[in-house]
Amino acid sequence: MINYFSREPLPLEMHKICYVQKTQLQPVERRLAAAREAGFNSYRLTSNDVYLDMLTDSGVNAMTLCQLAAMMRADEAYAGSTTFSRLSAKLFDIFDKKYFLPAHQGRACEQILSRGLIKEGQLVPMNFEFGTTINQIKQVGGRHVSLLLDEGLVLQSDKPFKGNFDLKKLRHVLESERGNVAFVRIEAGTNLIGGQPISMDNIIEAAAICREYGVLTVLDASLYQDNLHFIRTREHPELSTRQITKLIAQAVDIIYFSARKLGFGKGGAILTNDESIFLKLEPLIARFEGFPTYGGISIRDMESLIDGLDDTMDDDTIAQGPNFIAYLAGELQKYGIPVVTPPGGLGCHIDARKFVPHVPLSEYPAGSLAAAIYISSGARGMERGGIDEPIENPNDPPFGAMELVRLAMPRRVYTISQINYLIDRLSWLYENRDLIGGLYFEEGAPRNFYDRLNSIGDWPERLVKKFRIDFGESL
Ligand code: F0G
Repeated sequence: MINYFSREPLPLEMHKICYVQKTQLQPVERRLAAAREAGFNSYRLTSNDVYLDMLTDSGVNAMTLCQLAAMMRADEAYAGSTTFSRLSAKLFDIFDKKYFLPAHQGRACEQILSRGLIKEGQLVPMNFEFGTTINQIKQVGGRHVSLLLDEGLVLQSDKPFKGNFDLKKLRHVLESERGNVAFVRIEAGTNLIGGQPISMDNIIEAAAICREYGVLTVLDASLYQDNLHFIRTREHPELSTRQITKLIAQAVDIIYFSARKLGFGKGGAILTNDESIFLKLEPLIARFEGFPTYGGISIRDMESLIDGLDDTMDDDTIAQGPNFIAYLAGELQKYGIPVVTPPGGLGCHIDARKFVPHVPLSEYPAGSLAAAIYISSGARGMERGGIDEPIENPNDPPFGAMELVRLAMPRRVYTISQINYLIDRLSWLYENRDLIGGLYFEEGAPRNFYDRLNSIGDWPERLVKKFRIDFGESL
């Protein structure tokens, strides 16, 4: 991390921008109208109405010139593409796994792993759950259990690895469910608790326990590049990123990832050294994804992934996301804005329960805050709380333990002045937080990405009125 002369941190960009995409900042009145048209659901906004797209880091990371150039040398063959051979070699070089099964994205890998490795009724223990994973496990009649250390759920903390397994709980579950565990899934980093990393030592110990019980370990490396940065900087500064990657790869049986996140690209991959696992999964790739030398990924995207994966081994490159997130979180804290600490990967997570304590859980504080952030800044984040929570019965809303607004940090996409703009608007919003009210589900709306909600009262209009008073003509 570079510092200013004042010693304040400066997350200096370690790249220069060669291509740009025009973006627009709509006036606050249009943002209010867009929020209403979208049913206060940021998934329903269109790019025209969004200034900073911080919904996710998935598939929206900026590519390098080398990645774009690589697309032109892609070998567009249905079977036996040399692009596949080149990508396999790169994956072996980085992860030490000789079998590579391509799938079109992370959840497709999860579907293949679930169909191939989980029998009805079997359990999949994991450090923490993720929506796409749980869906696939349930689809094949499996069960899951999250075995995170309790400290992982404490939003404001100084624990460097909140994604760690409670190893005692892991051993207990493997003991009590002997013979009934399909595999243990290790998510590195951990999405739903604020992009928090798991330590290398914890991964290796968890894997050793699994081996004692003859249970396979599966590493979800979708958010791995941030996690690698945290291992190198917070745990093992004596090791290089490549060494850390290899040591962890040697400890686990299977690695899969969403290349929409890892590798600055698109697609997904399953890797293993175990021939019997490969032979079990390969026919499923052919059946559900595509011929096993492309597996539903466009060949151009596969070719660009080769360079993208090399970039994930570059320390300057992988530091940028976490450094930007730490900067954003640190500046927000100066205004007293409650964020998840320590700052993790993936994005800056705002604690909505504390930001709007007057909005009850039944009125969706995280959803309300996400809407208020969008209206005040044009930045769209993602609600991670009661609206997002998967539920069995739509009449029985879940009031989750966490109510977070995730402001994801697409890699190499935004500049520090854009982040400074966001900090300014969030500081204004925090001062005016009493104006933020709740949301309710409109009658008969489905509970999924396309939910429609409405504001309880006219708080969004009052927020806009105050914005105009305070900012004058400024957008
Ligand atoms: N595993 C993790 C840890 C993820 O964060 C995601 C996706 C997946 C698996 C599934 O990958 O989207 O390519 O199918 N996370 C996205 C997000 C959706 O916005 O956090 P996918």
